[in-house]
Amino acid sequence: MKTAIRKQMTINPEVMDSLNNQISMEMHASASYLAMASWCDQRGLLNSKAFFYNQSEEERGHAMKIFSFVNENGGAAISPSIESVNNDFDSLRGVYEASLEQEIKVTESIFKTFKQARSVDDFTTEIFLQWFITEQSEEEDTFRSILDIFDLMGDNTPLKMIDERLPKE
Ligand code: FEO
Repeated sequence: MKTAIRKQMTINPEVMDSLNNQISMEMHASASYLAMASWCDQRGLLNSKAFFYNQSEEERGHAMKIFSFVNENGGAAISPSIESVNNDFDSLRGVYEASLEQEIKVTESIFKTFKQARSVDDFTTEIFLQWFITEQSEEEDTFRSILDIFDLMGDNTPLKMIDERLPKE
């Protein structure tokens, strides 16, 4: 009867470790986007500024989604320490390139945890992570389309003119 009263851990313990690592990656992404938003803000790049503030919020939302999932399934979510956030960028294109690289790493990590969950029959986590797979695909597409705009406009176009063509969110 005790098992019915206290919620059992329904996620695999090793998968839980990977989910905690994912929380850390998402929070790091959030902090990174905040640094990018600040860089754009200081240079009056209004669309990019709004875009990265929004991205930062979204990534925090992703972290919290996983955080709640872990605790709601009887696990222990860990609040991560965030280190090595880069605040220094050479160019606006560099900011977007760094973003795409970051998203690719996040996608790879989600795939890894998804496969891990599948291999240990952790169906709860497998289903939960499906949303993230779709989300990552959309985010990578967004950054690739933005980098296409840089290619189309060429390196000699003033930054503000490029920024005006970029999405705000
Ligand atoms: Fe939540 Fe875009 O990584």
